[in-house]
Amino acid sequence: MKLTLKIWRQENKDTKGKMVTYPIDGIEGDMSFLEMLDVLNEELVEKGEEPVEFDHDCREGICGMCSLQINGEPHGPNRHITTCQLHMRSFKDGDTIVIEPFRAKAFPVVKDLIVDRSSFDRIQQAGGYVSVNTSGNTIDANAIPVNKHDADESFNAATCIGCGACVAACKNASAMLFTSAKVSQYALLPQGRIEAVDRVKAMVRQMDEEGFGNCSNTGACEIECPKDISLENIARMNREYLMATTKG
Ligand code: SF4
Ligand code: FES
Repeated sequence: MKLTLKIWRQENKDTKGKMVTYPIDGIEGDMSFLEMLDVLNEELVEKGEEPVEFDHDCREGICGMCSLQINGEPHGPNRHITTCQLHMRSFKDGDTIVIEPFRAKAFPVVKDLIVDRSSFDRIQQAGGYVSVNTSGNTIDANAIPVNKHDADESFNAATCIGCGACVAACKNASAMLFTSAKVSQYALLPQGRIEAVDRVKAMVRQMDEEGFGNCSNTGACEIECPKDISLENIARMNREYLMATTKG
């Protein structure tokens, strides 16, 4: 396949970026999207030009690092996959592909296609954990019965990989889907109820402080989420928050 790539190049967060056009040839349908970028970078290095910086780690849909906006969609045109799971067979010979970083005030560009998503880490640090007594009196987690529905819902929420596609898809750059998944995975379990009031208040406060926008129920986040995290989590977080703030 012969393709035309239009890629966002930006030296660092303080400089102005611009789209740069790169023609590329010899791309196979079986290549992943990131392998296609590897081919481009090898060519750029051979020509003595700076390679395009992009984030990746696992390349199998687990780590959430490969945050690319492809033709205006987070993780590209296919549903329920990350960019590293996108294959070039999803494109046609002669296509032009526009590749940008995820855009949000709370995700500043580090370089080219890499954004700083440490705002997500700080939301997690604010309350996304369960405190456990490790003094030798720890109760085996399986000693506390959990009904299957709640266990399944909690597990589904816990599959959020923190990729940020929900933020990139949202016209308000809201992080409600991410934060609500992290709140829900504990809210649904008896072990998580002990700190539930403090958790939801702290995580929502941190989310707001990071500069994410509010949710206006458009649902773009759910559609673009590679892990199919449901909007029901946002409703659950709102209920948790209302109960927590009513209790004071
Ligand atoms: S909710 Fe979905 S889109 Fe948002 S960070 Fe988690 S996995 Fe990514
Ligand atoms: S590189 Fe890990 S999810 Fe894509």
